[in-house]
Amino acid sequence: MADTPRLEVDHITCRFDGREVVRDVSFAVRPGEILCLLGPSGCGKSTSLRVIAGIERQSSGLVRADGAPLSDARMHLPPEARGVGLIFQDFALFPHLTVGQNVAFGLRGPRAAMAARVAELLERVDLGGYADKSPHMLSGGEQQRVALARALAPRPRIMLMDEPFSGLDNRLRDGIRDETLQLLKDEGTAVVLVTHEPEEAMRMADQIALMRDGKIVQKGAPYNIYNAPCDKAAAAFFSDINVILGTVQGALVDTPFGQFLAPGHADGTDVEIVFRPQHVKIDFDRGGRGPNPTPQDGTPARGVVERARFMGHESLVEFRMDFDGGILKATVPAVFLPKPGTPLWLTVRRDRCFVFAKKR
Ligand SMILES: Nc1ncnc2c1ncn2[C@@H]1O[C@H](COP(=O)(O)OP(=O)(O)OP(=O)(O)O)[C@@H](O)[C@H]1O
Ligand SMILES: [Mg+2]
Repeated sequence: MADTPRLEVDHITCRFDGREVVRDVSFAVRPGEILCLLGPSGCGKSTSLRVIAGIERQSSGLVRADGAPLSDARMHLPPEARGVGLIFQDFALFPHLTVGQNVAFGLRGPRAAMAARVAELLERVDLGGYADKSPHMLSGGEQQRVALARALAPRPRIMLMDEPFSGLDNRLRDGIRDETLQLLKDEGTAVVLVTHEPEEAMRMADQIALMRDGKIVQKGAPYNIYNAPCDKAAAAFFSDINVILGTVQGALVDTPFGQFLAPGHADGTDVEIVFRPQHVKIDFDRGGRGPNPTPQDGTPARGVVERARFMGHESLVEFRMDFDGGILKATVPAVFLPKPGTPLWLTVRRDRCFVFAKKR
């Protein structure tokens, strides 16, 4: 049935020595879809993947492929019986086999078909002439690409990838990443990709599951997670953020940048207004005055440039704000690199601000 997910992870919890390192994790992945488990080091990403692979056993919850259980409270299929491809952080090639033999390792069937599949995959990972070489003759990045080809060779219905591109340099990584994605999509594989890099997750994922302390705190398309984070930490995971404080009165918060809407927050609630440096607009000082307030941008507030860093396509400017002496950050096109000490006026795009109740 077209609507049955290829992979279902249903309320998985995993305990080590009484400590829950994966807590009630659920998600579903369809054929040809890529889900990224994204989160800081130690949040339980690899453990979740190991449970799906069958290398680790969950304390509760179940894993299904095409509607049939791979593991639940009663049964546990061994990893090799799951039809799941794996590429782990600490991937290893078989040192006594050639590159070609490594890629052919999981393949069965007529010799000519196997040879054709190996050649096709080595070509796709840009290692066309390498079949007869031995792994020790390859660089780290080349070995990683062989591991990728080896995992893809048997056309697994589910592919689990744990930071598979981390050893590649930037230029190579973008190419291999896009190529691998295309290959997996072409073959209708359901992919769970683990990464701690938000840029990688946004580039690769159809869905991102943001993890923290063993739990999925937010799940959705990259656009939605970036533009509607569930809390301050989720916003901060994707970029630098600015935070200003305020108190709600009549569903509004008064700030030096004008009033912000705070629907759903009770009077007296202390809130944090969070916005990204990309959503701060900068304007010139006009004899001690900034631009006129507008409904969209609110009121300008004055700051003095503390530091400006050239970052290639943009500059990151830090301002010491007049209103509280604190720092706010703004990114501007790199043609503009204001000198420290320059007074400028900042406005904040209201439609790009998030208002969260301040945690006590
Ligand atoms: N076999 C184990 N026994 C005990 N604790 C474990 C075991 N495996 C993992 N842990 C602990 O579980 C937590 C989650 O580990 P996990 O490897 O899943 O994190 P991760 O999100 O993949 O991190 P990273 O980004 O650093 O790879 C860590 O605190 C780790 O120390
Ligand atoms: Mg890990």
